[in-house]
Amino acid sequence: APGAQHFIPPDADDLAALRTAATDCRGCELYQDATQTVFGRGNANARVVFVGEQPGDVEDQKGLPFVGPAGHLLRRAVDDAGLNPRELYITNAVKHFRFELRGKRRIHQTPDQVHIVACRPWLVAEFAQLQPEVVVVLGATAAKALLGPSFRVTRSRGVLMPWPDSAQRPQDFTRVPTDATGQLGSVPPAQLVATIHPSAVLRADNREIAYAGLVDDLKVVAGALA
Ligand code: URA
Ligand code: SF4
Repeated sequence: APGAQHFIPPDADDLAALRTAATDCRGCELYQDATQTVFGRGNANARVVFVGEQPGDVEDQKGLPFVGPAGHLLRRAVDDAGLNPRELYITNAVKHFRFELRGKRRIHQTPDQVHIVACRPWLVAEFAQLQPEVVVVLGATAAKALLGPSFRVTRSRGVLMPWPDSAQRPQDFTRVPTDATGQLGSVPPAQLVATIHPSAVLRADNREIAYAGLVDDLKVVAGALA
C-alpha cells in the first residue's frame, strides 16, 4: 500500500481541503470494505485536539468521528471535566473502519501498525493546520501513531507532559505559520495528556471507576488551558 501521503494535495491549505481529499484515499486496503472516510471534525481554531483510534460502526455509516456509544461517553466526560466541546477538534489515528464480518455483524478489529503508519500523514496534515497546544491521546492506537511503540498509556496517563523528544512534535509538522518577514511564527509548544480510550470505559468491569478516571485525566487538560 502506498500510504496516505500520495493522496494529500500539497497545496491543501485548510482542513476542508484535506477532508475533501481524504474521501478518495486509498493509502491502505481499509477503504475497500468501509463505507467512507471518517475525517476529523471540530473547531479549526481548537487549542486541544483529541486523537482516537478509528471510526466504529456508527461513525462509518454517518461519516463523523465519535458519534456512536464511545462518542456519547466521551462527550459526557468532556462536559464533566469542564472542557467546552465547541473549542475542541476530534479525530482518529486511522480514518477507515476496520472490521470483521460475523454473519451480518461487523465486529471492530484493532488496526495494525501498517494501517497506523499508512494513515498517519492525514493526522500530521491535521496537526499542521491546527497547531494544537494540547493533544489528548485516547488509548494505545493513538499512542502508537504519535508516540511510538514504547509509550504506555496506563503508566503515563493523566499527566500533562511535554512532547517526547523521540516523537515528532505537532509544532514541527510543516506549515508552521510565518509572520510578515517570513520568519517562523511562534507556536506554543505542544504538550500531551494520554488517557484511556472511551471504549475501554464501556468494556471495564467497573465502569464508574473507569469513567471517573477518564474525567480526572481530562480535568488535567482543562487545567492546562486555564
Ligand atoms: N472510537 C474511536 O476511536 N473513534 C471513533 O470515532 C469512534 C470510536
Ligand atoms: Fe487512507 Fe487511512 Fe483510509 Fe487507509 S485508513 S485508506 S490510509 S484514509
